[in-house]
Amino acid sequence: MTNEHSLDPLRQFVRDMTKLVDAGAGSLELVDRGETMMAKLVADDSWLPADFAKPHPQYYQQYLLHCDPLERFSVVSFVWGPGQKTPIHDHTVWGLIGVLSGGELETRFDLVDGALQAGEVTRLDPGHVGRLSEDDGDVHQVANAFEDRVSISIHVYGGNIGKVRRHVFDPQTGAMKDFISSYSSNVMPNIWA
Ligand code: FE2
Repeated sequence: MTNEHSLDPLRQFVRDMTKLVDAGAGSLELVDRGETMMAKLVADDSWLPADFAKPHPQYYQQYLLHCDPLERFSVVSFVWGPGQKTPIHDHTVWGLIGVLSGGELETRFDLVDGALQAGEVTRLDPGHVGRLSEDDGDVHQVANAFEDRVSISIHVYGGNIGKVRRHVFDPQTGAMKDFISSYSSNVMPNIWA
């Protein structure tokens, strides 16, 4: 699947993030310091094994790359087929989004008196790192910026994100529904080989 050196950037990211959570960093510090680490991780797009970069014809894919044993953070590759997008959703934990290849369009939403108000659309290009926290806003929708090609991003979240109970929002009414995203595969890359 991969040679023994190609997953070095991911292994280093996992080590650095583990040290940071072990040191008891709060979510603001995790996002601040994690941003630099994520920028380094997505500066090189050659390390992600093909099995975790595979699109699905219908659904965007979320491949778990690593989960901290104490579920303090998880690392996921998001693979967007042409034109694919998420529902409007929240996270309830901090997060960082690093674009590896292609591009993403992110729309933030504010909840004002129970109604959703769309903010500006931000385009995230390769190497760009976006932040998610309660301070910066936690509700958004993300789409592949391309209608004719795959885009890939690497996300880190402050929990085992596939198991976190969070929410999706109806774009018309703003009505909130419980949501657990799960993962697209039960297989993980062997970063220790
Ligand atoms: Fe998200």
